[in-house]
Amino acid sequence: RRTPVGREPDGTWLVTTFREISALLHDPRISSAVDPDREPVGLAPSFLRTDPPQHDRLRRLATRQFGPPHRPTFVADLQQSFEGIVDRLIADLPASTADLVDQFAYPLPVLVICELLGVPLADEPRFKAWIDQALAAENPRDTPAFRELGDYLGDLVDADPEPGLLRSLAHDDGPDGRMTRDELVGTALLLLIAGHETTVNLIANASLVLLREPRWIERLLDDPSFAIPLVEEVLRWDPPVQFLPWRTALDDIPIGGTTIPRGATVTLLLAAGNRDATHVSDPDRFDPDRRPVPHLGFGDGIHYCFGAPMARLEAQVALRALAPVLARARLLEDPPEYRPSPVLRGPRHLRVA
Ligand code: HEM
Repeated sequence: RRTPVGREPDGTWLVTTFREISALLHDPRISSAVDPDREPVGLAPSFLRTDPPQHDRLRRLATRQFGPPHRPTFVADLQQSFEGIVDRLIADLPASTADLVDQFAYPLPVLVICELLGVPLADEPRFKAWIDQALAAENPRDTPAFRELGDYLGDLVDADPEPGLLRSLAHDDGPDGRMTRDELVGTALLLLIAGHETTVNLIANASLVLLREPRWIERLLDDPSFAIPLVEEVLRWDPPVQFLPWRTALDDIPIGGTTIPRGATVTLLLAAGNRDATHVSDPDRFDPDRRPVPHLGFGDGIHYCFGAPMARLEAQVALRALAPVLARARLLEDPPEYRPSPVLRGPRHLRVA
């Protein structure tokens, strides 16, 4: 609160308050594009790492595949598919002890994203290893694992993948034209990693809150619609994506009582913005009953999470179905060990008896 916009010893600018983060995420003078001086370009960047107009064209092409009018039954189909997968995973949980990350929170989004994209599930152990190796590095794009994953997806695109989003994208002749092969590979990489690495943490972080405070489990059992505010409060209070690195100032930007100079690298601390007391009262208290406030759990502005409706639905379905299991479970390790990534926050395991 004292220094909403400050400088790290390495020169990176940090932004910590809700209003300033949100303003910068809407500011065209802040770029998300890969800076070739600082990062090897290698594979074509996905739309997460591009600016308009390239970003907008790619995002529009992908968005067409995610719902009406192009696919009117998309959400209803998704919900059905989530419920089927969730029921199977819960039926397979061992009766004595279980790891709710390895045996539930992780496989659910993986099964969903593979089915959605048309990526063979049998290849999952290979690409999980590549994703883990890449995300443990300071610069994931600059790792052999990232390039191997790119090659794998390139081969898949060339071989005309199984029915799913990748195949539809490859054949879609919309008003924006088709994606090139490089653009398709970049989009596939983005969706596979985003689908793999974030929803798992949302479900795991929410499960941890519930195990620690069983009164919320009671509420969920009494009223399934309580899953909606519950998931929103987890996204605010313990967001799976803690901060956004990589932004670059394209101009001098006066903000928060200082000026971020042109060329500076800017990191936006979403998790801190979500607990900004000038934006939300009593911010450190977990309270799903609080008056709804906008949060930064899915970012903001033109890069606002593309998968947000899907991730919300997936987590709500998962927690409703998991509630009876959680009601009988006891956490074996508290606090649990956390995953090593600095950006993505969630327990590595959630062992329960
Ligand atoms: C962007 C969070 C699930 C696809 C983002 C951003 C955040 C975020 C914070 C903004 C990144 C930035 O501005 O640099 C999350 C969280 C999720 C989740 C917390 C789960 C709980 C998903 C899923 C998908 C997805 C399931 C895919 C189906 C994307 C894409 C972008 C994005 C494609 C880039 C959008 C753009 O650049 O226009 N996500 N995400 N996300 N997310 Fe998610």
